[in-house]
Amino acid sequence: GAPVTVDISKMEPGQLIRVAWRGKPVWLLNRTPEVLETLKTLDDQLRDPQSSESIQPVYTKNPTRALKPEIFVAVGLCTHLGCSPTFRPEIAPADLGPDWKGGFFCPCHGSWFDLAGRVFRGVPAPTNLEIPPYRYISETQIIIG
Ligand code: FES
Repeated sequence: GAPVTVDISKMEPGQLIRVAWRGKPVWLLNRTPEVLETLKTLDDQLRDPQSSESIQPVYTKNPTRALKPEIFVAVGLCTHLGCSPTFRPEIAPADLGPDWKGGFFCPCHGSWFDLAGRVFRGVPAPTNLEIPPYRYISETQIIIG
C-alpha cells in the first residue's frame, strides 16, 4: 500500500482523526499537556508500560510512544484478535474506578488501552497497540508508511 499523507493543522486538542493505511485504520490523536502528564502516572496499571513487547518503530520507543509527544499515531486494531477499539477519552464503567484517565476500549473481549495505546489492567490484549512507521514532512503534515 501507498504511504498516506495526513494534514494535522486543523486538529483540535483532544481530537482523534482516523485514516486508512494498507487497509487498516490508523488513528491520530492530539494529546493535551494534561494527558501527557497523566500518562506518566499509569505505569503500575499497565501490562507493559515501556512498550518493550510492542510493534513500533525505534523512533517511537519513548515514554509517549510518539515522534512529537502531542500527536499520537497508532494502528487502530486491538492486538488481541483485531477488532477496532472505540475512543473513550473519559468514560469508563465503574469497575475501572477513578484510575481510568481515558483511552480506548475494545468491545470484543473487553481490553482497555490508555491514551498511548498501552494495555490497561492486563487482559486480554497481549501487547500495546501497534505504531505504524511515520514521519513529519512539515510542522503540520505527517506521512504514514
Ligand atoms: Fe480486542 Fe479481543 S479483539 S479484546
